[in-house]
Amino acid sequence: MNAVFEPAGPLRGRLRVPADKSISHRAAIIAAMVGAPVRITNYLDAADTRSTLAAIRSLGARVQARDGGLEIVGAGMRCAQVSGGPIDVGNAGTLMRLLPGWLSFQTGSTFVLDGDESIRRRPVDRIAQPLALMGAALDARDGRFPPLTVRGGELTGIEYELPVASAQVKSCLLLAGLATDGTEVIEPVATRDHTERMLLAAGASLRRMAGGNGYRTTVQAGDALALERVDVPGDVSSAAFLLAAAAIVPGSRLMLEGVGVNWTRAGFLRILARMGASVRGELEPDGAFDPVEPVSDLEVRHAPLTATTVAAQEVPLAIDELPLVALLGCFAEGDTVVRGAGELRVKESDRIETVVSGLRGLGAEIEALPDGFAVRGTGGLEGGELDAHGDHRLALVGAVAGLASRKGVQVRGFEAADVSYPRFAEDLRGLLA
Ligand code: S3P
Repeated sequence: MNAVFEPAGPLRGRLRVPADKSISHRAAIIAAMVGAPVRITNYLDAADTRSTLAAIRSLGARVQARDGGLEIVGAGMRCAQVSGGPIDVGNAGTLMRLLPGWLSFQTGSTFVLDGDESIRRRPVDRIAQPLALMGAALDARDGRFPPLTVRGGELTGIEYELPVASAQVKSCLLLAGLATDGTEVIEPVATRDHTERMLLAAGASLRRMAGGNGYRTTVQAGDALALERVDVPGDVSSAAFLLAAAAIVPGSRLMLEGVGVNWTRAGFLRILARMGASVRGELEPDGAFDPVEPVSDLEVRHAPLTATTVAAQEVPLAIDELPLVALLGCFAEGDTVVRGAGELRVKESDRIETVVSGLRGLGAEIEALPDGFAVRGTGGLEGGELDAHGDHRLALVGAVAGLASRKGVQVRGFEAADVSYPRFAEDLRGLLA
């Protein structure tokens, strides 16, 4: 589906953005590990998180709508049922990488995980190798890509330093670590910590210690997980598109309600403020670690922007928003540079390639670097056509670019946005009215 986003504005009003995708995935998976009912409010209703519900159902969890939320009654920690056929993760990388953490200790059971074309290009050796060190047997296509077969076994604890800053890998190993006598995951740079917070809330025996720019987190087998309820906040990654739009469309002023502001996710808010946009809200202080996810209303207003350089340790805290930093860079005065973000190459698309070619096609002066990009601010964007390449974040970057462009943007394959923000076009119409 092609969608056209004409120059428009200002954006004005209040809005509740969709629920957090990362936290929704985790809530469903961890609920499936708990052997008692878990109530989830504000679970994200989008393609990725529907894949997670289908996956846990196929593993024996009961999922029901109840009192405006969801009730999940899981199979229990060591009781995942063997699903009828391969588990289809669709486009969801988080599901592909977290679920094997649980499945790897279902002794005697074999599971196959597969997904769409984009998932089949995304590496899973990053979880398969450490899980194999723990004693699980995994097979991936060419040793590296889905389909992924997981044969559960008795696991032993490991100490593992993440070779890439990945919350998905960390989370996978922490879930697997729940079946060991002690597993320590070392992250040299902090990455999103929703899994740790939710496991703490569920009574897991988890300890976390600061070290360098990151953390050492230890888990071990303990009492069964007990989690009564998860309230999913608004997704700061979805909010980011509207915040960016308001920052670059003159006269805009938006209030986004109930957005998750966990500091390990809020890197983009700090980058946006540093570039000169007025962003107001109660951000969580760096280093905080509370089982309850922090939430705030966020107000943003249009302002002239100045270029910025994103520091390497900021990259994981804003990883999904870096395509938006490139877009903001087009409107900022000076050169905006992102380095140390080679991980962008293995997202839903090669986001260095697709962002650079997409924005260049709209008139941007942007250059790809091996691990990031450099953008020269020219005060605006001409417009034209941008292909989403099946990547939800790219589709939404195209939409925001269109609003702030001189001639509008036609986004090819806009349906990709359904993965995280299905009602984006509708929400936008409300703010432009
Ligand atoms: C996610 C972690 C990040 C992020 C992805 C969601 C998560 O991936 O890009 O969209 O929910 O843990 P990596 O862990 O691969 O960096």
